[in-house]
Amino acid sequence: MTILTKIIFHLKDSKNNINIMFDLKFFRIYIVSIFKFLLIILILSMSINFRIANILDLKGIVKVKIDTWKTTYRGIISEEYLQSLSYENKEENWRQKLENPAHGTIIYVAETVQREIVGFALVTLEKCNPIVALLQAEKYKGELCAIYVLEDFQHKKIGTELVRLVINYFKVNKVNSMITWVLKENPSRRFYEKLGGKFLGEQSIEIGGMRHIEVAYGWENIEYILLHF
Ligand SMILES: CC(C)(COP(=O)(O)OP(=O)(O)OC[C@H]1O[C@@H](n2cnc3c(N)ncnc32)[C@H](O)[C@@H]1OP(=O)(O)O)[C@@H](O)C(=O)NCCC(=O)NCCS
Repeated sequence: MTILTKIIFHLKDSKNNINIMFDLKFFRIYIVSIFKFLLIILILSMSINFRIANILDLKGIVKVKIDTWKTTYRGIISEEYLQSLSYENKEENWRQKLENPAHGTIIYVAETVQREIVGFALVTLEKCNPIVALLQAEKYKGELCAIYVLEDFQHKKIGTELVRLVINYFKVNKVNSMITWVLKENPSRRFYEKLGGKFLGEQSIEIGGMRHIEVAYGWENIEYILLHF
């Protein structure tokens, strides 16, 4: 092979290489763009909107409450009682809470882009249950009466975001301390501990014909919770 043929072959080869590299570069850009697009779709479809509840959220809230009770309290509360819980039975009670809320009471909901309610928090500037056995409970002004997130959506910081809204609500209303009650056997009580809740004491309550212990956690200064976010 003459030197000239070698040079021609080399030039042809490098031209092919350039073409292949050029194609690969565009293929990579193409794949990365598709990946970014899918990621945006995924993030958007997973994003959660937080807002104050209204009467249209009734069914969603009741569903979250009942479904979460069943998944959380299985093995803790009597199975018979859990089975007896139905959406229909609870709707009237929650309709009242939404249509005629007690003074200082508010409900926040977390919903998906498909408008599915996946969590909620009910709070009051006063007390959810006026009679509490724990004397120091009086020291704590606002109360987180209930907070529930559907099992499939737990551990995604939805609970934390709901608490953030609750704190803002308290601050706007000049309430700077908070208390909450949770069943002693409920593993979710770690949530309150993670947020810096101080164990205050316990009391006995009756659910479904059985006695249970519930424990209270308190925050003397709700600003302190914000440090845990
Ligand atoms: C408690 C609850 C509202 C928390 O909401 P969430 O969105 O799941 O919680 P977050 O993702 O914001 O969790 C914040 C931290 O709390 C702790 N935590 C939350 N749920 C917990 C659980 N079941 N067990 C142990 N730790 C828990 C974790 O430390 C978590 O931080 P990490 O994920 O970085 O470890 C939710 O798990 C729930 O609805 N549980 C069942 C119902 C219930 O028990 N409600 C409270 C009684 S009224």
